[in-house]
Amino acid sequence: MQFATVDTEKGHSRAFLDAAAWEVGMLRGKQDLILVEYERESMRRAGRFNAQLMDFIRPHVKAGVTTGELDRLLHEYTLDHNHTPACLGYQGFPKSCCTSINDVICHGIPGDYQLRPGEIVNIDLTTIVRGWLGDQSETFLIGEVDEETLGVVQSAIDCLYLAIDAITPSCRIAEIGKAITKEADSRGYGVVREYVGHGIGRRFHQEPSIPHCPTRQSYTERLLPGMCFTIEPMINGGSRDTVLDKKDGWTVRTKDGRPSAQFEHTILMTEEGPEILTLTEHGPQKGHNF
Ligand code: MF3
Ligand code: CO
Ligand code: CO
Repeated sequence: MQFATVDTEKGHSRAFLDAAAWEVGMLRGKQDLILVEYERESMRRAGRFNAQLMDFIRPHVKAGVTTGELDRLLHEYTLDHNHTPACLGYQGFPKSCCTSINDVICHGIPGDYQLRPGEIVNIDLTTIVRGWLGDQSETFLIGEVDEETLGVVQSAIDCLYLAIDAITPSCRIAEIGKAITKEADSRGYGVVREYVGHGIGRRFHQEPSIPHCPTRQSYTERLLPGMCFTIEPMINGGSRDTVLDKKDGWTVRTKDGRPSAQFEHTILMTEEGPEILTLTEHGPQKGHNF
């Protein structure tokens, strides 16, 4: 079946686009989620800087460094380039990035904790670049890790790229959850449901919701050309169940204490297919083997 799409060629005004989107009748007042060419360029620029920031921090992520020190380096690099860390102050979050260690699934708060050999840490970076946002995360191994931990990290990156490979212009959002649960199920791992990917643009978290398991809603919504969103699967070594730390209100851990890993990219769906906006030059690429 062929789906109507909105012609977003260079030079078309927002007003033209809104009218066209209205005519195809698929967006029901959500035309602003479809980016025109200059808006796409703004998102590309934001993604590029965010990826450059990840490349900057990579050599510093090793045994002995504290997560607070990593946060300070990230904060300063971002300010030195005249950009803004999006996490700092977001809904009261106290630091400029998230650092999630071992059984921490996401939203770990940087602090005095020193990384040790055998551990894993996810670093999640989001930057505001001239009003537009890039968002990505990567899980790092500190020295050698045990087999279960290695398996979870490998599955998480495989899930991200399998999901990217599964999406096509105007496909259903459910293709993402289907690809991810197929991979995780085959290895007996849990896919976190409470935290999901999201539309992104001038706002950090916006529509559409990008669940990593198929949901009723994800079968009804489509990834139209011009939409920007994240895919960020969180894969648990054991059950998918999560526990929120009541003391800090942010840190999310696995209920069973087993390790959890995550990778995230910001993606633009184009008329030709998905374009990854936060690819790093020096980080793990598609097909990477840990
Ligand atoms: N970067 C996270 C995401 O991928 C969100 C972190 S929100 C914060 O959506 F407040 F914890 F920083
Ligand atoms: Co993120
Ligand atoms: Co995100």
